[in-house]
Amino acid sequence: MHFDILTLFPAFFESPLSQSIIKRAREAGLISIALHNIRDYATDKHRTTDDTPYGGGGGMIMKPEPIFAAVEAILEDKELGTNRPSPPVILLSPQGRLFTQKIARELSRHPRLILICGHYEGVDERVRQYLATDEISIGDYVLTGGEAPALVIVEAVTRLVPGVLGDPGAPFEDSHAEGLLEYPHYTRPPVFRGHKVPEVLLSGDHAAVIRWRRQQALRRTWERRPDLLSKAKLSEADKAFLRQLEEEREELRFANESNL
Ligand SMILES: C[S@@+](CC[C@H](N)C(=O)[O-])C[C@H]1O[C@@H](n2cnc3c(N)ncnc32)[C@H](O)[C@@H]1O
Repeated sequence: MHFDILTLFPAFFESPLSQSIIKRAREAGLISIALHNIRDYATDKHRTTDDTPYGGGGGMIMKPEPIFAAVEAILEDKELGTNRPSPPVILLSPQGRLFTQKIARELSRHPRLILICGHYEGVDERVRQYLATDEISIGDYVLTGGEAPALVIVEAVTRLVPGVLGDPGAPFEDSHAEGLLEYPHYTRPPVFRGHKVPEVLLSGDHAAVIRWRRQQALRRTWERRPDLLSKAKLSEADKAFLRQLEEEREELRFANESNL
């Protein structure tokens, strides 16, 4: 997987792309990342990359020419190969489709991604209309620039590249992978400040552990993100367990009302 990141602030990425899993994935050749400074593609004397908005108003808008030139230079890169379909050109924007694990998986199927980081008041609309093939938001809030969102995408997609995680099954158990939040984790010691690890995890009974984890994942999702349950793949046993949780809740409500 190769990422091309277009930014006005390449130094932003130095530390995060040189740590932990991303660092190891790069060293192992599983992913590669090229940082392209948009300013290098500005052609005027002052290497201008932004200008005031037509129609007035505050803030600066990133100019289209250097961004188009940068993407076109990348697309001409020989390594891309002539028969390969063009990679997605993703504009980071608070107005884009909301980034999810499903989109991370979809993106991980491409061998190459181009990520455009906006800044200031945003980018000239023609970049979105005539250059970007996708527009992604990492959440309903506004950040200063697209750099942090680009990092989020690189992180989430990299974890899904085969070989990156030690345990190949891990991404399929993570929260959101199969529509549920993940079960809780514990490690040694078995008792910490009087708080015990659930007995079943120490039992050595593999089938019981699997059942417990599934029920914990269901319970967590039901308690914290019930909206996810309608889209999750649920077995008959899962549905029965959720019905049991509903019944318990009803009984508790009834008991509380009776005590008033
Ligand atoms: C200050 S924002 C511009 C916001 C723009 N004026 C608007 O209201 O839609 C500057 C840049 O940060 C990036 N950005 C900010 N919030 C983002 C988000 N939630 N997801 C993805 N990118 C974001 C985009 O690249 C954007 O062009």
